Amino acid sequence: MAATKTSSAALEELGLPTDRLPRHVAVIMDGNGRWAQARRLPRAEGHRRGVKSVRAVIEACVELGTVDQLTLYCLSSENWKRPRRELEMLMRLLEQYVIEERSEIMRQDLQFTMIGRTEGLTENVLREVDQTVACSRDNKGMRLCLAVNYGSRGELVDTVQDIAREVASGTLDPNTIDEDTISSRLYTAGMSDPDLLIRTAGEMRVSNFLLWQISYSEIWVTSKCWPEFRRNDLFDAFRDFASRERRFGGLDK
Ligand code: IPE
Ligand code: IPE
Ligand code: MG
Repeated sequence: MAATKTSSAALEELGLPTDRLPRHVAVIMDGNGRWAQARRLPRAEGHRRGVKSVRAVIEACVELGTVDQLTLYCLSSENWKRPRRELEMLMRLLEQYVIEERSEIMRQDLQFTMIGRTEGLTENVLREVDQTVACSRDNKGMRLCLAVNYGSRGELVDTVQDIAREVASGTLDPNTIDEDTISSRLYTAGMSDPDLLIRTAGEMRVSNFLLWQISYSEIWVTSKCWPEFRRNDLFDAFRDFASRERRFGGLDK
């Protein structure tokens, strides 16, 4: 994918060598409510505006042609504590997004996937998601992964249960369990770990997002709220990422 687009205008604008760019970018899209409240708008308006940021970030990644996967945290397993009205609004927004974006996902050649537990999601959302996953399955471009009703601890619980069942049935020897055994049973099986984790709205925490997978991700936090996050903010994050020395526990090169 990257090979055909290495001279893209977006890459020139960014001005960084492709081998210094993140291949998998994960984003904790936070601050929709605060963005709206600061403007005396309903929180729902912040969520609606957040969709524009999603579009802008996907478009920028597609133009760059160097990002293999973009994972967006849309709803956490803890977000069910919110008022029912807000959750219903988020479900409708997600359904609308998946329907409206389908043709764009196909045009951009994206492989669409979702991680998280399905319980609690409306039938409409699940149906539309399944349809988009199915029709984009053979696309060759960037993988777009939405984390919906996702919680990392819940993911680990599900994974441990799967492993325990395999051990109990005799198909898995406990002595052979290693890191790959776990990685390959997470919701993110087959995906690379994020190179860069971006969080908007200033909070210095990971809020139960991809705890296993972000062990060596570079973290970049901006005070900007998600609805105002645009291509130039993504590029700022990429520039900072490019300046980091990733050692993975080793020594400087
Ligand atoms: C992020 O924005 C979107 C979701 C968690 C669904 P918030 O809704 O958390 O916005 P703040 O953090 O309250 O401003
Ligand atoms: C994290 O944001 C979840 C998503 C962005 C979907 P939250 O707003 O739920 O996180 P906390 O509650 O501030 O940790
Ligand atoms: Mg928040």
